Amino acid sequence: MSTQKWLLLPLVAVAGLVLRQQLASSGPAENRPTAHQVIQEDVESVFVTYGAGTGRSLLQDDENDKHKDELVKQLVAKLNRTALDPVPSKPEERCALTQGTWCMQYHMQEPVQRYNPPSYDKDCPNECNGVGRCNHETGQCHCPAGWGGSDCTQPRKRACHHMGADKRDAGWHNLTHWSHTRCAGVCDDNIGMCYCPPDTKYGRREAADPRLPPIQAGRPLFMCTPGTDKDGKKVEWGGTPYEDMFGESGWCNADKPKFRCPCRVDGLSGTLCDAPLEQTCANQCSGHGDCNLGFCKCHKGWYGVDCGLRRKGVYLTDGDQVTSKPWMQGVITPAVAPEDPPMTPYRRRPYVYVYDMKSEFSTDLWQYRIEAAHCVYRRFDTKNKTLWAGYNAYAAEPLLHELFLTSEHRTLDPEEADFFYVPISFACLFEVYGWNAIPRWPAKVHGTRSYGAAMMQLEAMKWIAETFPYFKRNGGKDHIWFMPHDEGACYVWKDIWPGVMLSHWGRMDMPHASQTGYGQDNYSMPVRHKDQPVNWLDHTSKAHPCFDPKKDLVIPAFKPPSAYRESPYMGSKVGQKRDTLAFFLGDLRMEPGKDPHCQYSRCLRQRIYNISTEGKWKETHNILYGDRNAVGKHDYSKQLASSTFCFVLPGDGWSPRFEDAVLHGCIPVIIMDQVQAIFESILDVASISIRIPEAEISKIPQILKAVPADKIAKMQEGISRTWQRFRYIKLKMIIEDARKVLAGHVSANDGSAPKNLGAAYSVSKQDDAFATIMQWLYSRIPDATGKPLAPAQAAVLPAASGGATGAAATA
Ligand SMILES: *[C@@H]1O[C@H](CO)[C@@H](O)[C@H](O)[C@H]1NC(C)=O
Ligand SMILES: *[C@@H]1O[C@H](CO)[C@@H](O)[C@H](O)[C@H]1NC(C)=O
Ligand SMILES: *[C@@H]1O[C@H](CO)[C@@H](O)[C@H](O)[C@H]1NC(C)=O
Ligand SMILES: *[C@@H]1O[C@H](CO)[C@@H](O)[C@H](O)[C@H]1NC(C)=O
Ligand SMILES: *[C@@H]1O[C@H](CO)[C@@H](O)[C@H](O)[C@H]1NC(C)=O
Repeated sequence: MSTQKWLLLPLVAVAGLVLRQQLASSGPAENRPTAHQVIQEDVESVFVTYGAGTGRSLLQDDENDKHKDELVKQLVAKLNRTALDPVPSKPEERCALTQGTWCMQYHMQEPVQRYNPPSYDKDCPNECNGVGRCNHETGQCHCPAGWGGSDCTQPRKRACHHMGADKRDAGWHNLTHWSHTRCAGVCDDNIGMCYCPPDTKYGRREAADPRLPPIQAGRPLFMCTPGTDKDGKKVEWGGTPYEDMFGESGWCNADKPKFRCPCRVDGLSGTLCDAPLEQTCANQCSGHGDCNLGFCKCHKGWYGVDCGLRRKGVYLTDGDQVTSKPWMQGVITPAVAPEDPPMTPYRRRPYVYVYDMKSEFSTDLWQYRIEAAHCVYRRFDTKNKTLWAGYNAYAAEPLLHELFLTSEHRTLDPEEADFFYVPISFACLFEVYGWNAIPRWPAKVHGTRSYGAAMMQLEAMKWIAETFPYFKRNGGKDHIWFMPHDEGACYVWKDIWPGVMLSHWGRMDMPHASQTGYGQDNYSMPVRHKDQPVNWLDHTSKAHPCFDPKKDLVIPAFKPPSAYRESPYMGSKVGQKRDTLAFFLGDLRMEPGKDPHCQYSRCLRQRIYNISTEGKWKETHNILYGDRNAVGKHDYSKQLASSTFCFVLPGDGWSPRFEDAVLHGCIPVIIMDQVQAIFESILDVASISIRIPEAEISKIPQILKAVPADKIAKMQEGISRTWQRFRYIKLKMIIEDARKVLAGHVSANDGSAPKNLGAAYSVSKQDDAFATIMQWLYSRIPDATGKPLAPAQAAVLPAASGGATGAAATA
């Protein structure tokens, strides 16, 4: 008996545990996956964790279970201590606290056998000029920023502000206007980025063939603008002395410059901004392409926005980047739909087709971004260490794209699709828009950001309707759009509105007007120009509400597991004692001049703050409320975990407070009239939260103190059964983060796994936010497409008929 085999034993048991849970949770007996199929799913993660052998040897070593000597017993006992309770497996348990029948309907559908995915073989014109990416399904070229036309031969430039023909600034003195793309060096006018000029030592040297990368990239000059010219004469649009940038010992010439310009663009790091980093792309081009600031250029034989699809008849592999670039291991999520032959044997509806969008609506915006952390949810740091992108409130946008691309619900055959996902860089445009002159929709029109984004979305819709036959088929009702920005789908064009709107903002009142405190985002502001003679408001916000619970869904914002690391569901002991009655930490915008008309947060955060200080809520009621100054610089996750109630208040629109509360087992106190919380239309949110009308904010302490202890306990129990629906887990980096957080608590707790109801889900992929969206979408198929659901499930459904009581599930 080799030691190697002994060491494998716990792995067998872990896989066995997964297996049992999966078997118990799958459909009718004859459709249950075999051991091999189930283990396949988790093999990859088990082996990344333990770094041993291959999936096959794991199965062969199943034998070892027979050896019942002392060592084995010890190992089993140890595993038992580190094993979490099994997640619920019966449909009625999994549907706890759901409203209506969507959840049971989903689980009662018969899974069907997967077949080999369709594959495509169309050629693109001119091989996309060697710069673009051919979509072999449509035969269309997708071009990177800088290139356009049907074969990516036409220039499609993004000039720097006031750039002359030599790509240098054309008005040091006669133009004082400042812009982020104002460039004192030489402009890379594919993306509007600035570098040291070619006549300096660390300047940019373009290749003779403009399709090739530069011979020397050069040190970036982005956000580094001169305060003087070379004669020492003042220029108005910058502040850095000329010598510091262009002198002998300046940034562009010296090996060790005494002044350094900022290094913020994706792909570069180090004090001299010359160490290359892996750049962020959708699912890292699946390991089959090269990432250029968000645009994947696929290796031969691969295609799609993430190079995740294989051209028909091509079976060669292009050398495995996951091996040659070890830092890719932690971020590439294996995609299910393109598996050929399928390794995931069964599938369930809904089937969702994911459009490969034209670059203007998608990857261009990533290529134009200024900060590495803009638009993405993860990035690479020094030495290509993966990390979360920091605070990106709209991170669910890139996240959902990867989730749809890798989902088992994705179909590569649009003809069979129940839904169509339209991945546009809507929120990313907001980040780029605030800083730069272009892109604009329509070109050159300077409207508000919300207008620009809505126009981009409209153009994207027109492109889809012209390019594919599917938009018109059901009047757009089966098209899914994600509107991550603060005021959600309030201002989507009425042509798009029939579709499924996913957003974080469940505002229901009609008519409605923008409530942002930030003018650029005000969707009620009229915009007029020659191409827009009609009032755009009549086509957008005045034509529909922000959210229609029948066809839309309010979905969680993204929080990585490390953001809720002190949650009792992740193994932390903090929440065992909740000694703060109620808690809120957030922006109040009360500094003079910041929000003069008190528009932010409907003036709720501010009014509550004043009431709380006047009433001495902290001293009298143990309610912590306010910004960092008021609440103290403590660990936010710990504070949420040690509070019984947590406030859910709006910001400029949505604010991810319901998620924060639920992920920490804190009971949400919702204060925003006529706005539904996350999943409120499909979950029994009323049974796990308190809602206080805006008019009653002065009674908050009395209302909360009147909640009886048994009701609090009941709500807490309800949260521990549903919290997993409020977090996303299915991408590689997220599940690894969750495992790390849990492992930290387990080792701090003498090697024991936490034993509480919610902890069963700590690292489970079951029923997360994305799965919840898919399960709900299933019930939407008849309405959105006219297709019936499979008849079998009608018989097994309980009598409940979509009432608000959740009778189908909770009992
Ligand atoms: C594992 O734990 C369960 C319950 O906690 C216990 O009943 C069982 O005997 C344990 N098994 C071993 C091998 O320690
Ligand atoms: C600024 O001066 C340059 C030449 O020095 C000229 O080409 C350009 O047109 C001038 N621009 C403006 C706005 O006057
Ligand atoms: C990081 O990734 C980039 C791009 O793949 C590569 O050029 C660089 O050598 C890597 N750096 C390290 C330290 O591995
Ligand atoms: C938004 O713009 C409209 C129209 O200009 C204006 O009436 C309204 O006060 C603005 N809203 C906010 C919150 O500034
Ligand atoms: C809160 O109190 C401050 C100080 O008294 C006052 O200036 C401000 O207007 C109040 N804000 C609200 C929204 O009541």
